[in-house]
Amino acid sequence: MKFTNLHNILVRSIADKAIINYSKEYLSGDLIDIGCGEKPYKKALDNVVDKHIGVDHENSNHNLSNAELIGSAYEIPVEDGSFDSALCTAVLEHLEEPYLALQECNRVLKKDGMAVYSIPFIWHIHEVPRDFFRYSKFGIEYLFDKAGFEIEKIEALSGFWITFGQLFVYYIHRFNRGPLRWFRIITFIGLIIQGFSFLLDKLDKAEDWTWMYVVAAKKR
Ligand SMILES: C[S@@+](CC[C@H](N)C(=O)[O-])C[C@H]1O[C@@H](n2cnc3c(N)ncnc32)[C@H](O)[C@@H]1O
Repeated sequence: MKFTNLHNILVRSIADKAIINYSKEYLSGDLIDIGCGEKPYKKALDNVVDKHIGVDHENSNHNLSNAELIGSAYEIPVEDGSFDSALCTAVLEHLEEPYLALQECNRVLKKDGMAVYSIPFIWHIHEVPRDFFRYSKFGIEYLFDKAGFEIEKIEALSGFWITFGQLFVYYIHRFNRGPLRWFRIITFIGLIIQGFSFLLDKLDKAEDWTWMYVVAAKKR
């Protein structure tokens, strides 16, 4: 574990666990990972899918050594119905035309093919300037239905406290320099806040303030 990653360990572990569980439950066969970045779920899904093909765009900030295809979420360079499954994590907010991207995902899936998405609702700006939208549960339902999917399951990954606590930790992390960094003071405060946020979220998971949804959807 790198010390530099401790500031978001709570949301990363919650999201990773949910995405891997959803993938195990819903995905199989040949998988397209859209906006794959560094393909963080490759190892976890090795025994879940037969092939794990990543696609990303050529100007990505991420190391694309794991991406087999260079294309875009709007034009995946494969035939219609090439895949049994699709995975698209933390990408939809970076797409200026989310409906077109969902339609393209639908095109490359076989009939009854399954897709797992993670989609943020309350989160700060990141990957500037390619950060366009946030999505409510109702916006997600609308877009997936319009693009030809039936949602099998949608889940809010947190309530108010984890969202609030994690955003506060990101905010104070901006001051993580000089003595505050040498003595790991911000890191320590951040870990305490994440711990309390986790406990408070267990007491009251107010999902209207979730930071993220995970979605499993079937091609109609
Ligand atoms: C926040 S990263 C998520 C990466 C990876 N899916 C993950 O969960 O770690 C967003 C990814 O979307 C990709 N992306 C942004 N716009 C894209 C587009 N038009 N077509 C394909 N990928 C895109 C970026 O290059 C980046 O890899």
